[in-house]
Amino acid sequence: MDIEGNVAFQPDIESNRLPLEIRRGLYEAIFRRRDMREFRPDPVPDEVLARILVAAHHAGSVGFTQPWDFIIVRDMELRREVKRLFEEERLHNAGQFTGKRRDKFLSLKLEGIVESALNLIVTCEPDRFGPGVLGKTAIREVEIYSTCLAIENLWLAARVEGLGVGWVSILRNEVLRQIFGIPKAVIPIAYLCIGYVDSFPARPILETAGWAERLPPRKLLHFDTWERGAAQGGNLPRLVEDPKIWRDIFPDGDDSDKK
Ligand SMILES: Cc1cc2nc3c(=O)[nH]c(=O)nc-3n(C[C@H](O)[C@H](O)[C@H](O)COP(=O)(O)O)c2cc1C
Repeated sequence: MDIEGNVAFQPDIESNRLPLEIRRGLYEAIFRRRDMREFRPDPVPDEVLARILVAAHHAGSVGFTQPWDFIIVRDMELRREVKRLFEEERLHNAGQFTGKRRDKFLSLKLEGIVESALNLIVTCEPDRFGPGVLGKTAIREVEIYSTCLAIENLWLAARVEGLGVGWVSILRNEVLRQIFGIPKAVIPIAYLCIGYVDSFPARPILETAGWAERLPPRKLLHFDTWERGAAQGGNLPRLVEDPKIWRDIFPDGDDSDKK
């Protein structure tokens, strides 16, 4: 019986659960994944890079279209060009804020383009197999969603390998296309900086810097219809903020980073 008094899993359901060590490992990777902007210069072995690319390639995709490609960028001249593009775009981004918020924005380090061991562009080719796609009717962006899943896979795989990943979106796709010769039919989705790091912070860098906070998960729950919020959700809204839900997975853990 669990903490809420629910009966234990039936044996066949139990056999489908992965062993505790593996479940713990996956949750650890999820909670310890961080967006990184400071990197060590150490090279990333090709075997490690190959593993995280294969992990990305095993993401789900609409109609199994696998719409992604990966451009591995090691060339320093190209990276310096991207850094210049970033610097320009960062000023545009700063223009969205005023006063202290703007000062704070400008004080943040938001990329590691040149310092990281390598950069990686993940792209999406929506019409890879022609216009007919199983699973694509009214939602035009389904291949983009698929590509984002590949990126999250890569991000988590990188974390278990001890590799930092930093996503840089303060860039312009049309210029990236020019710099890297990306065809018109292909959309750059993520510009990633990848490399080893000294340590991974427990909390998002933007949280520690006082830029934003994690939203309370209970406030994001709706029940049956949008307007039925936490107050009408029974036990679940309380549970998503209760560290005790983690005690089977992390019996001696510090739960403070999981709320
Ligand atoms: C689509 C996307 C674009 C992002 N762009 C940037 C960026 O340009 N610069 C940056 O420093 N972080 C960027 N980030 C990282 C976020 O700031 C980061 O994910 C967030 O602060 C939460 O921190 P965490 O990833 O460590 O949990 C981006 C993340 C995503 C998913």
